[in-house]
Amino acid sequence: MSGTGRMEGSGTGGPLLRIEGLRVGFRSADGGVVEAVRGVDFSVAAGEAVGVVGESGSGKSLSMLAVMRLLGSPARTTGGRVMFDGQDLLALDEARMRAIRGRDIAMVFQDPQSSLNPALTIGRQITDVVRAHRQVSGAEARRIAAESLERVGIRDAGKRLDAYPHEFSGGMRQRALIAMAIACRPRLLIADEPTTALDVTVQAQIVDLIAELRRDLGIAVIFISHNLQLVAEIVDRVVVMYGGKVVEDGPVEAIELRPRHPYTGLLQACVPNLTGPVGPLVAIEGAPPRLGRMPQGCPFSPRCPHVVEACIEEMPPLEREAELRFACWRPQ
Ligand SMILES: Nc1ncnc2c1ncn2[C@@H]1O[C@H](COP(=O)(O)OP(=O)(O)OP(=O)(O)O)[C@@H](O)[C@H]1O
Ligand SMILES: [Mg+2]
Repeated sequence: MSGTGRMEGSGTGGPLLRIEGLRVGFRSADGGVVEAVRGVDFSVAAGEAVGVVGESGSGKSLSMLAVMRLLGSPARTTGGRVMFDGQDLLALDEARMRAIRGRDIAMVFQDPQSSLNPALTIGRQITDVVRAHRQVSGAEARRIAAESLERVGIRDAGKRLDAYPHEFSGGMRQRALIAMAIACRPRLLIADEPTTALDVTVQAQIVDLIAELRRDLGIAVIFISHNLQLVAEIVDRVVVMYGGKVVEDGPVEAIELRPRHPYTGLLQACVPNLTGPVGPLVAIEGAPPRLGRMPQGCPFSPRCPHVVEACIEEMPPLEREAELRFACWRPQ
């Protein structure tokens, strides 16, 4: 990669993003470190859509914030590598990381309200991103911003640029954030529960929009959600997280047809709440493990209907069988 140019393919044919042994921890009151992400590995190929699913607290957001190098204190990355196009993002200096963030990898967050600056117009916020990464005139940045807004389905985009966030509905604000994310045509878009704050009809529209952008622009997508059924509609592959670890990973068809990890099977059986925003799943008995109180063995063992002695004693390794990877002593 040149100092200012966009990162180009490394030519090795490897994945676009490869997360290896990623760990995120917090300093605990007694001076130790409590880990919330405990060795996460998965890859995303160029143009691929990957769903990351799991209940609240499984470490989905922290993992993605670590990839973007956006973790705020007291969270910090305590191990692993994040290979993007052949280089470790965790080893880059902040200036180079800033050049990649928003240009090569963009992220959309759960809450469109707090991700937009209420004091600036939508257009200003999009053009700021464009001008941070591209040497273009103000007029050209505005043209790109209008084009992005139009691309995410906002009509009269040219006029809408001068609107403030409060003049947009929740769904339109989420669209504006997506417009901001794609304005520089990133190669990877990370969408962290982009539909949680929205009503069901609008949720479906945002999911469709992300699927469409991925198809039309060839952007790889990581789509984070509680809801396996929702992500399964638009992704190629599903990564299931539990207790800060990947417990299963594979092509969506294989996961839907025959999940091997009992947790995935239970997630699949969860019927999403159709009357309001998708909240934490309640259909699985018991609660996820608390930070600092992780079981020594499989984190799911206290809730697992198939638990045996080995599950309590030792964490099963993530092993590959055919196209799936799963971490379970008693795969289904
Ligand atoms: N700043 C923080 N200080 C202490 N603990 C934190 C902090 N941020 C997150 N955690 C904890 O780390 C764990 C993982 O959090 P994370 O936000 O990654 O979960 P998640 O899978 O994204 O959940 P959700 O689906 O609710 O968004 C949780 O137990 C959470 O409470
Ligand atoms: Mg989260």
